[in-house]
Order: sequence, then C-alpha cells, then structure tokens
Amino acid sequence: MASFKDEVLSRRTFAIISHPDAGKTTLTEKLLLFGGAIRAAGTVKGKKTGKYATSDWMEIEKQRGISVTSSVMQFEYAGKRINILDTPGHQDFSEDTYRTLMAVDSAVMIIDAAKGIEAQTIKLFKVCRMRGIPIFTFINKLDRQGRPPLELLAELEEVLGIESYPMNWPIGMGKEFLGIYDRYHRRIEQFRVDEDERFLPLNDAGEVEGDDPIKENALYDQALEEILLLNEAGNEFSEERIANGKLTPVFFGSALTNFGVQTFLETYLQFAPSPQGRMSDAGVIDPLSEQFSGFVFKIQANMNPAHRDRIAFIRVCSGKFERGMSVTLARTGKQMKLSQSTQFLADDRSTVDEAVSGDIIGLYDTGTYQIGDTIYSGKQPVQFEKLPQFTPELFVKVSAKNVMKQKSFHKGINQLVQEGAIQLYRTWHTEDYILGAVGQLQFEVFEHRMKNEYNSDVVMESIGSKIPRWIYEDAVDESLSSSRSLLVKDRFGKPLFLFENDFALRWFSDKHPEIKLYNPME
Ligand code: G4P
Repeated sequence: MASFKDEVLSRRTFAIISHPDAGKTTLTEKLLLFGGAIRAAGTVKGKKTGKYATSDWMEIEKQRGISVTSSVMQFEYAGKRINILDTPGHQDFSEDTYRTLMAVDSAVMIIDAAKGIEAQTIKLFKVCRMRGIPIFTFINKLDRQGRPPLELLAELEEVLGIESYPMNWPIGMGKEFLGIYDRYHRRIEQFRVDEDERFLPLNDAGEVEGDDPIKENALYDQALEEILLLNEAGNEFSEERIANGKLTPVFFGSALTNFGVQTFLETYLQFAPSPQGRMSDAGVIDPLSEQFSGFVFKIQANMNPAHRDRIAFIRVCSGKFERGMSVTLARTGKQMKLSQSTQFLADDRSTVDEAVSGDIIGLYDTGTYQIGDTIYSGKQPVQFEKLPQFTPELFVKVSAKNVMKQKSFHKGINQLVQEGAIQLYRTWHTEDYILGAVGQLQFEVFEHRMKNEYNSDVVMESIGSKIPRWIYEDAVDESLSSSRSLLVKDRFGKPLFLFENDFALRWFSDKHPEIKLYNPME
C-alpha cells in the first residue's frame, strides 16, 4: 500500500478549457482510453447518437445534449492518479464552470488550429491566470488544414498575454500532415504509420539520422527552418515559469486520430503539479497535512429526478476523506457525519470510501452546503479563502407568476442565491428583482429549480447583456440611473450600475470622472 504522502503526490487534478467544438470531449475520451477508464470512445458525449453520457444528469442537459455542470473523471496512468474536472464547453456555461477552475491545480487549454483563440477560451483562461496555475496548450485538429503554427503562437501571446514554448512542432498539416517534430523528446513522431516505426530519433544537430524518405519532403525542411527560428528567437523553456503560469508549453496534435495525445499526456504528467497548498484563515494548508479539509466548489441539483437530492462537490485540500468520518462545517461550526459520498467516473456514479488531497468527492446534500463552504476534521478550525464572485454578463427581471405565492418565491430565490446558483440584484429604489448570470443556462436551471423545488412559477423578462460596474456608496446619485446605466444593488446592498454596453460605460466614465467604477474581478 502506498503511503498517504505517495498517494497525494500521485494526484494530478486539472480541467480542460476550450471554446465549444475545439475538441475537448474528443481529447477527454482519448485520455480516458489511455487510462483504461472507459472501454470505447464515444461514451463521454452522445449528442449524435442520442445516447447521453452519464455526466448529463439533469433534464435540461438531456434536452440539449450538453453537459450543464462539470463532472469528474478519475483514472490512473503511469503511476499517477488523474482527476479531470470537466467544464461545459457550450456557450451556455455557468458560474460552475468558473468555480471548477478554483478546484484544479492546472489546466489544459485546447485550441482549434483553424480557429485560434476563441471567446470562451479567453474567459476561462483569465480565471486560470488569476489563480496563477500552470496552463498546458494543445493545438488540435492538425489532420485538417489550419492556420500557420507561427501565427497561432503569436496570437496566443498577443491575445492571452502568455509566453509560449512549443514542445513540438507540426510538419505539414491537413492532407499533408507528416507528423510532429518533438523538441522535448528529440524525435519525430510520424502521422499514421505503424506504431513500431512511428518515432524517428534526431541527432545532435536536431535532424533525422541517415536517409529517411521524410528528409526529401519540403515540409520537413520548412519545419526545420521554423524550429531554428524558435530556437533562436523563441522563449526559453523554464519549468519555473510553467509552474507559475507565466509560460505555457504548447503541443500540437489531433485528438480525433489520437495523434500526439499520448506524448502530450506523458509530458503533461511530468510537469503538471501535484496538489497545491491552499490559502485559509490559518495560512496555507499543506496538502500533505493529515487533518482532513476541503471546500465546496459546486452544487449540482436534481441529478436524480426521482429525488430532490443535490450533490455538493468538494475538493479535498488536505488529509484523507473516509466514509463515515465526522467533520465540522466551518460556516456554522456544526459537526456532521459524512456517510453518503459519491465519486464520479465517466460511466458510473460509484461510491467512494477514501479520497486524499487533490481528489474530488461528491456529498449528498439536503441543503446543508453553500458554494465556498469549508469542512474539516479534527479540532483545528480551518476556513478557506472565499471563492471569487464572478461578474455576471446576462440579466433578467424576475417575479412570481402567481402574486399569491410570494412566500415560496422569496424563499426559493434566497436559497438559490445563497447556494450560489445565481446572482441577485435589486433596482435601487423599487427593489425589483434582477438576476445575473454568466450564461443563459443558469436562468433555465433557476426556473426549473424554482418550479420543482419551491413550487414557484416565475416570470423572467430578459434585459439582455450588461456590463456591471460597482461604485462606492457615497457616489450614489439616483438621477444617473437610466435604461443605459441602471442603478441597482447587489445582495449585500452594494451599489452598482448595469451598463447597456461598452459605449454606455465609456460615455458614463467620460461624463462622470468623479465616480469611480470598479469590477471586483479585476
Ligand atoms: P468539444 O467537446 O470541445 O465541443 O468538441 P468535440 O470533442 O465534441 O469535437 C467537436 C468536433 O470536432 C467533433 O466533430 C469532433 O469529431 C471534431 N474533432 C475533434 N478533434 C478533432 C481532430 O483532431 N481532428 C478533426 N478533424 N476533428 C476533430 P463532429 O462529431 O463531426 O461534430 P460536429 O463537428 O458536427 O460538432
């Protein structure tokens, strides 16, 4: 049996961030296949076949064929225990997607070689950068004609502002894709040839030995030239800069054809961090410390339509979780026994008896937990840092359909807001309810849960996308509130304006330089 320390050090917990269609599902499936966690590809997502993956629990998920909330997949590879936290790759992603990034130690960013950096990737990237976690880039779909690799690298650095170090480099692309020049392993990995002959070693000069046919191809020469350029003018490889998220190692490949995936996985495992310490009110909590602690980063409701159970997802930050153990909920100081726990694999909800730092467990919840809650065992109280409040982008006005049912309406809203499912605002004077979300789907989940859990039909009227900017209390001037800059308060009573668009925001700042506008996320 491995020691507790070895167990913890073998964990690699990460999320894949990408824009929809870049290939996240495909890459995830390939990674799971290497780990033997699934028998055949195609089980993660079945939107084409009508079969739904088990990560698509909620009804809404089923209707749309997408995964609303992130599930967790665990597998072993090369002595490492890997936890992949899935993030919804749909435009309707929610705050849970962001929060999932609070529970990982690194991220894998997939980019479609033909499309480059896309909107959702930028949003998710920013959250990762805020945390300073290592980001590994996989540029996908090399079996198709994409944009020139040098251009993609330049875009990475310009748009995301992160330095890059290509670990390998494509030789050709699309119909003429010959393979990748692996700078790190000093070999060429050939595309679609027998496994045995797949690798061509490179000599000291960085060229293929002898007279292999690849050397006669002009694309090979071109790749060598580009490598030369990278060697001379590119960034230097630095493990330290990778570790603090300043430099992203870039891998090229094709998830669909399973090309470059294994090399990626193996190299990734070499540089990806084991569970990292986490800030609490008692200082950084060491993942190797024996006292169990963890925090709730996501609450998923109605996974089983027959029950109204919820699952609170907990990232274990230190110690060992054991089924039946007693813990304290830091927010209330209440002790409780954790008897019902569940761990999530791609195709099964299996019970977990033990988990260590870096692992994710799901606890059946009957309304005990809120997003950001800390639980711990032992006598030493711990409270982890608060999770950030993500700035919403979409807003709706909401009211109860049946005016006689105000009570259940208010109860439902308050609980869902506390739980972290949605954000609540009220207009400054009239106290009308406005809900904010980072993705449309949050509103649908809200509506669904209000009806099913609180028996409250709601009326939602979209007021579209807005740019929220907070102001200081003493700057409140109601006469400045208009449809273009709506003055509201958040659930803590703090004033903010909802600007109609960038233009309205700029116009306002120019006109009222005395009012300081701020975004808590920045
Ligand atoms: P996502 O989870 O990031 O949304 O992407 P997903 O893996 O579902 O992949 C999106 C589409 O891109 C899929 O096409 C998938 O087969 C394709 N794809 C993924 N990796 C590669 C690759 O390396 N090369 C090529 N050529 N295609 C790749 P699809 O199933 O036909 O669906 P769709 O395109 O109709 O959505």
